Amino acid sequence: MKFIVNNGGKLNGNIRVPGDKSISHRSIMFGSIAEGTSHITGFLEGEDSLNTLRAFQAMGVDIEGPDNGHVVIHGVGMNGLKKPQQAIDVGNSGTSMRLLAGLFAGQAFDIELIGDVSLSKRPMARVTNPLSEMGAKVETETDGRPPLRISGGQSLHGINYDMPMASAQVKSCCLLAGLYANGKTCVTEPAPTRDHTERMLAAFGWPLNVKGSTVCLQGPAKLTACDIDVPADISSSAFFMVGASIAEGSDILLEHVGINPTRTGVIDILKLMGADIELQNQQEVGGEPVADIRVRSAQLKGIAVPEALVPLAIDEFPAIFVAAACAQGETVITGAEELRVKESDRIQVMADGLQALGIDAQPTSDGMVIQGGSIKSGKVHSRDDHRIAMSFAMAALCAEGEIEIEDCDNVNTSFPDFVALASKSGLNIQLYEE
Ligand code: S3P
Repeated sequence: MKFIVNNGGKLNGNIRVPGDKSISHRSIMFGSIAEGTSHITGFLEGEDSLNTLRAFQAMGVDIEGPDNGHVVIHGVGMNGLKKPQQAIDVGNSGTSMRLLAGLFAGQAFDIELIGDVSLSKRPMARVTNPLSEMGAKVETETDGRPPLRISGGQSLHGINYDMPMASAQVKSCCLLAGLYANGKTCVTEPAPTRDHTERMLAAFGWPLNVKGSTVCLQGPAKLTACDIDVPADISSSAFFMVGASIAEGSDILLEHVGINPTRTGVIDILKLMGADIELQNQQEVGGEPVADIRVRSAQLKGIAVPEALVPLAIDEFPAIFVAAACAQGETVITGAEELRVKESDRIQVMADGLQALGIDAQPTSDGMVIQGGSIKSGKVHSRDDHRIAMSFAMAALCAEGEIEIEDCDNVNTSFPDFVALASKSGLNIQLYEE
């Protein structure tokens, strides 16, 4: 699939983007190992979270749906999962692979986790190292790449783990293994990362202890079913926040978006750049804060992005780079080396694309230096990365001509109805089979 996006236009109206990917994954995982029946609403029916759902079905969990975002999970309890017939294939989903590695380390049976070409290149030693310390047996390919072969029947014990990088996936992997371990599992993070695991475990009846940057849980655990309302994904909303900011005359309302403070870096960064963003109707839903987000166009200016905000906006940088390209002046991003090991090397791929569109974007080892300018017509490659594809689609709103984006199938991993929703809001986007 490729996108061809005509330049110009503006974003207007009220929209609700699909459910939060991180929360959707966790709702299936915890619902499956809980006792009782959990009802999930607002579930993201994208390929990534569906892969997590299919993984648990393959391990014998009775899961109904998804039907319009509604999923019913008949939990089997902590030790009720059954050995799947074959390897669990999580496709493109790093969250599935890293979190499931922790959960599988505590099972009685052997299990293999595999993924697509992109995921097979991503680093897994960051999860297999702490898991081995806990007593798990996990084999990887050379360099710690997938597949992961996890031996069952190991007795796990709690550890104190100091994470070398700010990663919610690594933290969650350790905590999930900790649910099956004897004793206390504590993880200390170098900077705050998304805390959906912590919040949702509390909702499933197994609260954690958080002190400063350390989170601890006691194992072995027991979870009790609960109902989860998944808010709209702030990461999917980010494309529209940037689009509405850069397209003159825009005024859009993004409804029921999760605004967990560990995820709102994109709002803070765009506001520092001069964006006009207003949170309305703030409320707490099932342990997660949500709000409607109103965004009106504004002249953005370049900034030095504070490093403390980087982990809080880690998935939004492709969109933030586009905002920087449309801003007045220079934007400098540092401390974002994790972007190099996402679904693609997001520093290189975004710099290549922005340069192809006539923008002075210089990649650095841990970020980028972007001179705001005028985006020309051109052709860019998303390198099979959903967030790159959607970010360049929004770039057309402030471009001088049409932008063609190759390799967009992966948009289905996180935002299946992106083209429909974006065109309804005013983006001149067309989808073509390549
Ligand atoms: C996620 C954590 C982040 C993020 C990913 C989802 C999660 O990854 O990029 O899209 O759900 O825990 P890292 O832990 O690698 O930063």
